[in-house]
Amino acid sequence: MINVYPENMGKRWLWERKKDYYYRKAKREHYRSRAAYKLKQLNRRFRILKPGFRVLELGCAPGGWSQVAREIVGSSGFVIGVDLHSVEPLGYENVVFIKGDFTDGEVRQRLRELVPECDAVISDASPEISGVWSVDHARSVELCEKALSIAEEHLVPGGALLLKVFQGELLQGLVEKVRRSFAYVKLTKPKASRSGSAEVYLIAKGFSPLKKGNVYPAKVVGRTGRGDGVAYIKGMKVFVKGAGEGGELKVRITSLKQGFAEAEVC
Ligand SMILES: C[S@@+](CC[C@H](N)C(=O)[O-])C[C@H]1O[C@@H](n2cnc3c(N)ncnc32)[C@H](O)[C@@H]1O
Repeated sequence: MINVYPENMGKRWLWERKKDYYYRKAKREHYRSRAAYKLKQLNRRFRILKPGFRVLELGCAPGGWSQVAREIVGSSGFVIGVDLHSVEPLGYENVVFIKGDFTDGEVRQRLRELVPECDAVISDASPEISGVWSVDHARSVELCEKALSIAEEHLVPGGALLLKVFQGELLQGLVEKVRRSFAYVKLTKPKASRSGSAEVYLIAKGFSPLKKGNVYPAKVVGRTGRGDGVAYIKGMKVFVKGAGEGGELKVRITSLKQGFAEAEVC
């Protein structure tokens, strides 16, 4: 039998069909983007957003993720979205869109005033595509690093971060940076994302205001049965290996867990 389609043509055809599937589904279910299904799938698996959450969304136009986020957080949470483009209001008073560049100092200041604290930062931001893989990858990582710095400023302890990033050689460095502030970090690709596309999603949970590897002053105020000291630094419970009670110490954070950190005396 003659193979009518070369292998990549077959893959493309399958992708087109799948794209149409999510495109049509989005139209039918009144979502503004097919990307809405990526957030739905990611959230089903990783529970990044929960009812009542305060969500900061970076790169939100045309608003598909915002619709899904609003469905999940309900009327007791809120969603603040930022994009370079203006976004048609969703019609909920707890969903607000800001037009601007989230890497810009003035926009950052506005966010500080509007959302001093949030439970999750989600970013589907894409750089303008140049078509040169290494350039697009580097720009995507740069956007993610800005999003990470926003997350570090706004998230409450235990908060979550979701980032879209284009794969490439700088990805591992980004993952390592995220690991310094979160207890759990994972890269994944939802079904609604084309398998051949460069994008992957980074999920980070259990935000810690203390960074792994950093040194902090600490005062041990208790002891565990295993002989470790207990200290509180920036509101986080920290177990300090082998430390006795009392006195000012300098401790280095050695690992982050959900809800607490471990440290050693320097
Ligand atoms: C893939 S779209 C987001 C789609 C959205 N998740 C949805 O479901 O509707 C990526 C967006 O990132 C935005 N973007 C990229 N860089 C940005 C920046 N520095 N500041 C604000 N928005 C940015 C783009 O304008 C674009 O609208």
